[in-house]
Amino acid sequence: MSDSILSLVGLRKAFGATEIIRGVDLDVRVGERHAVIGPNGAGKSTLFHLISGQLAPSSGSIRFEDRDIAGRSPQAINRLGLARSFQITNIFPKLTTFENVRLAVMRAYGMQYAFWRFIDRDRRIRDETERLLELVRLRSRRNTVAGEMAYSEQRSLEIAMTLASDPRLILLDEPMAGMSNEETAYTAQLIRDTTAGRTLMIVEHDMDVVFALSDRISVLVYGQVIATGTPEAIRADAGVREAYLGDEVTA
Ligand SMILES: Nc1ncnc2c1ncn2[C@@H]1O[C@H](COP(=O)(O)OP(=O)(O)OP(=O)(O)O)[C@@H](O)[C@H]1O
Ligand SMILES: [Mg+2]
Repeated sequence: MSDSILSLVGLRKAFGATEIIRGVDLDVRVGERHAVIGPNGAGKSTLFHLISGQLAPSSGSIRFEDRDIAGRSPQAINRLGLARSFQITNIFPKLTTFENVRLAVMRAYGMQYAFWRFIDRDRRIRDETERLLELVRLRSRRNTVAGEMAYSEQRSLEIAMTLASDPRLILLDEPMAGMSNEETAYTAQLIRDTTAGRTLMIVEHDMDVVFALSDRISVLVYGQVIATGTPEAIRADAGVREAYLGDEVTA
């Protein structure tokens, strides 16, 4: 389908004899916010590892735009326009906020160095770093050592670093994990703002966030997608309620 940016077909991943992803078919449409929900251990992070290249699938295909990216390296996939954050925060804790973002910008622009006049290079990196800091509202924290910031600020920083490669598809794995209600609301709005005009795939356990943020939701249970649909359709789906949501959304 031409309106999908990502298509998974018959995707499988086994670790040894244990099959964790058991035949996933999934389409993510251009511009949508698509949540993947499901119980602990369902395979959500594994699915993201397959899409972003940290793991190679046992079988099946992963089409991103017009290419099959299954089994390509994370760097190659990132260069094609797909970026992700991990379930565990993945920043350089001893560097400042500015230095963290600058590193991500330099990495993203690394391929293009040769094409720039040397004098332009540092200025472009600095300008882009400033733009990203502004976008995630961390300018006042620019000189703060990243590891000393509040957890939600570290997540904002990570979002800036994810955006540095100017990705068309962004994968966020539990960006609100461990946050207070206030931090969660703040981060949800930040994600909404900063991913506008891009496509977002997000794993999240907070159902209030998922139902408010998503255009569509896929439910992964024991390595298989048991339903995909709008928040309303997922909320009303008897199979989903039985397998995962339970009483959580009956109110
Ligand atoms: N490298 C690995 N080797 C063997 N088993 C693994 C590996 N990675 C994940 N698993 C197993 O795969 C299953 C799915 O793990 P995964 O982390 O994808 O689940 P998840 O849906 O992200 O869970 P959570 O909601 O707790 O983050 C788990 O049983 C896990 O132990
Ligand atoms: Mg996970």
